[in-house]
Amino acid sequence: MELKGAVAVVTGGASGIGEAVAKSMALKGMKVVIGDMDPKGLERVAGEIAAAGGEVAFAKCNVTSDEEVANLMDLAIERFGRLNVAVACAGIIKDGLMLNVDKETGKVKKAMTTEQFRAVIDVNLVGAFITLREAGMRMVNNGWDGLLVPISSVNKTGQTGQMNYSSAKAALALWPKILVGEFQMRGVKNVRCVAIAPGYVGTPMVKGMNQEALAGLLKGVHLGRLIEPSEIADSILFAVQNDSMNATCIEITGGLIANGLAK
Ligand SMILES: NC(=O)c1ccc[n+]([C@@H]2O[C@H](COP(=O)([O-])OP(=O)(O)OC[C@H]3O[C@@H](n4cnc5c(N)ncnc54)[C@H](O)[C@@H]3O)[C@@H](O)[C@H]2O)c1
Repeated sequence: MELKGAVAVVTGGASGIGEAVAKSMALKGMKVVIGDMDPKGLERVAGEIAAAGGEVAFAKCNVTSDEEVANLMDLAIERFGRLNVAVACAGIIKDGLMLNVDKETGKVKKAMTTEQFRAVIDVNLVGAFITLREAGMRMVNNGWDGLLVPISSVNKTGQTGQMNYSSAKAALALWPKILVGEFQMRGVKNVRCVAIAPGYVGTPMVKGMNQEALAGLLKGVHLGRLIEPSEIADSILFAVQNDSMNATCIEITGGLIANGLAK
């Protein structure tokens, strides 16, 4: 796909990876619509893109709402005439052990609540589903060249303390094969799906993690530092341009050897 003139919707575009993706796309001449729950962040990112000469629109959008996500996709079509790329970057963490056992007493002192589990599944899994469905529907119905990009994470080993988050991210890594299989069954040739599975990226989400735990995790990363959000954005731009990249989940981890085992 040609980058110049292509139209993208990026959820979670007010911060971190979504912000970097939206900015990189706009710099390459793509037209970008960003959606997020954070109105101030949206205004800031859209303002910075516009000031750099990029074409951008934005709307407050909760990705767990069918209606708000549909409206975000329609905004892209109204403003820029079509929709080619959807990147589902909106995400949250609510970390904790399922059973936090007191080492001295051997008894459970705290447990992950159902709300804590469900909230993360709702945004990271259901929200990504709604985003890809609403974008994909418009791409298929209008015959536009399209790419759907779910953002997974460390998805083979999971992550201790993130039973909720890892459950969502492991599922997202499967979607490209499922979706492209469905497109193949129905003769849909214009829409691709590529998931991106980042390792530890220097964004507000990771900066909010337990920093001691993070330093320990980085010892298992060959790169030896956090990944830059722009490095994830570059790989998404590469996927947009390369039509042969399809039905796969690309890991960009800086060389995460094994989850914590290489410390
Ligand atoms: N940072 C990492 O190391 C890392 C690694 C792997 C995967 N990821 C994934 O990348 C994506 C972006 O993460 P990030 O690190 O940039 O985080 P971030 O916290 O910097 O940005 C996430 C954005 O999503 C928005 N958001 C949260 N809930 C929303 C909702 N219901 N509707 C719309 N927007 C919502 C937030 O307002 C925020 O702007 C997430 O899906 C995350 O799970 C991040």
